[in-house]
Amino acid sequence: MAPSSFQKKAVVFVIFSGTITLILVAFPLVEGWLQEYILPQFDLQMTGGKLVNTDGSQPGMMASTTVSLVVNIFHIAKILLWMALVISVVRFLIFLIFQTVLRTSGQTEISSLLKTVLSIVVYIVSFFIIFQSQYPDVQLGALFSGSAILGIVVGLALQDTLGNLFAGIALQADKPFQVGDVVTFSNKESGVVESVSWRGVNIRTFQNKLLVMSNAVMGKETIEVAPRDNLNARLVFFSTVYNKSPARTIQLVREAVRQTENVSQKLRPVVRIKNFGESGLEYEVKYWADDYTKYNDTDALVRQRIWYVFHRESIDFPLPARTIHIGAKVEEVTPDEYLSTTVECLHSIPIFAPLSDEELEKLAHGSTNRVYAPGEAIVRKGQEGKSMFVIVRGAVDVQIPVEGIAKTINQLKDNDFFGEMSLLTGRPRSATVVASEETEVLQIKKTALKPILEENPELVESIGKIVDERRELLNPAVNSSIEPTAETDHGVLKSIRNFFGLK
Ligand code: CMP
Repeated sequence: MAPSSFQKKAVVFVIFSGTITLILVAFPLVEGWLQEYILPQFDLQMTGGKLVNTDGSQPGMMASTTVSLVVNIFHIAKILLWMALVISVVRFLIFLIFQTVLRTSGQTEISSLLKTVLSIVVYIVSFFIIFQSQYPDVQLGALFSGSAILGIVVGLALQDTLGNLFAGIALQADKPFQVGDVVTFSNKESGVVESVSWRGVNIRTFQNKLLVMSNAVMGKETIEVAPRDNLNARLVFFSTVYNKSPARTIQLVREAVRQTENVSQKLRPVVRIKNFGESGLEYEVKYWADDYTKYNDTDALVRQRIWYVFHRESIDFPLPARTIHIGAKVEEVTPDEYLSTTVECLHSIPIFAPLSDEELEKLAHGSTNRVYAPGEAIVRKGQEGKSMFVIVRGAVDVQIPVEGIAKTINQLKDNDFFGEMSLLTGRPRSATVVASEETEVLQIKKTALKPILEENPELVESIGKIVDERRELLNPAVNSSIEPTAETDHGVLKSIRNFFGLK
């Protein structure tokens, strides 16, 4: 088995720090040997850390320089070795704490800033202690504070780096945002925070570009933050003509927005009139996004849903009042044309094949044409149903919930029909039917169907058969939440006849 990165690091750490420790342990021996054998050869000895002649007098210039050079080399070598040991231990400990312990406890986002600052502090403190142990007479603090020129040189050289570091520390302490949050700057640039380091912040823009902002610049910006684990709201605007009831518009738009993907079900969208505009009523929709990083797509989908609901309900977007429209008149469908195309459409539906033209015309009179957006629910399971639908163009998915997830049990397309079960039996809708593409349907009301069923008992029978076939797929083995069907073949027909008051 290949060694893990932890094992590799541990082995390197043990070998490296062990070697340095051995050398450090060997130092006093070498120093002792120096004092005992080498110094006497030059008639020198160490007393109280000072070099003197064996007779106690001051040593000569040459001897003193040579020996103090050797002694200094020893001190410096010791400082370097101790620092190497400290760096090795700190790096290994940081690896242990940040990579191993924090990662297994799920905190993967500890920024590199914290690690860098921690290590620098430990290195500086260790250096002071080690240096003082080797040169107790040198005042390091005074050396640093007294050296104004050194300070200025270092300060100027590291101006930007230090600025970023301190701005980074301030950001880290404030924690105004975290990885995964959506941030927008005062210059309107926005994106998702990818990483926070001691130099700056990486932001992935919605055009998939990487925006690298230095901490110093970030510190000066006004930043709008949409936290990742928060329900953040969005505003979308639209207008309607003045002659449509605001109450109805608000209700329709609220429902359409509520059903849009990524719009949170936890908070009901708010639709309100924002202004009486020059050419129409101006509205504002406020919704809360489950995943705020997808707000561009969701805003667009919300606008699309509003368009479709307006199209279905014949609500117009206002045209600018001051613009004079000169051009070809939009071709409008006359009632006669509507009737004949609807009759034609109904005629091509197999179950209505036995009906006469007159009957189809009656049916067409009681029907309304509606268009649904892809993904929009046309009927919902459990709702009361007073109409059935014939698909003129498009396709739908018939869905039932299985363990809380919508499962498609059938797909219907042009000339198929649905919604007949609750219309004919008076039961709640047995399934949810969702448009899988833009779908145009004819909605036929119960009041229009009843006289036709009375005249055509064979129609009750053929629809009853289809209802029975469909109920098979809705059986309890597929979904335990569905009540077992009580009726036999005759039972369905009976309940249809009962509900419509037929003989
Ligand atoms: P209804 O119960 O009024 O509303 C949901 C509709 O989905 C239902 O009428 C049927 O028209 C349709 N439906 C239910 N089950 C099936 C199925 N197995 N195949 C096709 N359509 C179905």
